[in-house]
Amino acid sequence: MQEKLDSIKKEALDALEAITEISVLEAWQVKYLGRSSAIMEIFKSLGTLSKEEKPAVGKAANIVKVALETASGEKESQLKQERINQSLAGEKIDVTLPGRRTASGGLHPTTQTLREIYRVFGDMGFQIYRSQEVETDQYNFQHLNFPPYHPARDMQDTFFVKSAEDRGDDPLMLRTHTSPGQIHAMLEHTSKYPDDPPPIRIILPGMCYRYEQITARSEIQFNQVEGLAVGKGIAFGDLKGTLSNFARRMFGQDAKTRFRASHFPFTEPSAEMDVGCFLCKGEGCSVCKGAGWLEILGCGMVHPTVLKNGGFDPEVYSGFAFGMGPERITMMRHHIEDIRNFWANDLRFLEQF
Ligand code: PHE
Repeated sequence: MQEKLDSIKKEALDALEAITEISVLEAWQVKYLGRSSAIMEIFKSLGTLSKEEKPAVGKAANIVKVALETASGEKESQLKQERINQSLAGEKIDVTLPGRRTASGGLHPTTQTLREIYRVFGDMGFQIYRSQEVETDQYNFQHLNFPPYHPARDMQDTFFVKSAEDRGDDPLMLRTHTSPGQIHAMLEHTSKYPDDPPPIRIILPGMCYRYEQITARSEIQFNQVEGLAVGKGIAFGDLKGTLSNFARRMFGQDAKTRFRASHFPFTEPSAEMDVGCFLCKGEGCSVCKGAGWLEILGCGMVHPTVLKNGGFDPEVYSGFAFGMGPERITMMRHHIEDIRNFWANDLRFLEQF
């Protein structure tokens, strides 16, 4: 009987050894521990044994049964653990992989330059005045001392919104420069403070339009930042001081400036300010075309007629004005050779800033 029990145990354990799947293990449990398994048949037959044999055989059979149950339990937990390990391996993440970049937008290079200009003039006590983009001939030209047929109008070929036929000698147009904002700001100010208006210190940024051939150097749409200071006792030295200071804050403490005589109908005297080329430091390069200087802005003392058109008495008040092109400044700073890049919306260009 012990031999039979040993062979049952050996066969069962050998079969168990080879099992690698839970479903096969379940079949094994039916076959070796189920109701009609060899070991159970032995228990069923205990009744046929003699009183003497019964306890010994029962005990020996029980030892085999317990051994099979224990081995089966171990196998089951081993297979379950393997299954868990497998699924963990499938979910494994490599924490050393570099992260995925999130795509982020950026500010247009002109916007960046504009914001720097706002910051510099803001620090100097200037406020921002937003004027309008659609103007009348009166504001865009006449109040600024360009009479009809003045030759300086040729510099600014104009997009008309409503032609002279509809509006006589005051057609509507897209502003060709930000200077008409000077008149709006002054008139608003002098009508608010009719006697003894306090000083004005503003910059007027915004889009301007000129009906021109689009080339690498000129666009039909561009920004300008106008500046205006009006008060008592403002002199040309204040203009030079303010704008040289602007240049140092904008382009670096060692930025050199120079003023050249120029002409605008709405300023007298008029000048253009150059900054020493920040790429070659004045030695001459392709950006400054060998000159060592870059033209940054137009400026001048506000013309007495323009002060009068703004409601100021030119005998009592004086002021200075200036105008600059942020796209041009951006081109010089970053060595951009074609102004058309600013409107092309090409990410290969925009992502560089
Ligand atoms: N409006 C002039 C231009 O468009 C610039 C300017 C502004 C010059 C103010 C003098 C004073 O070129």
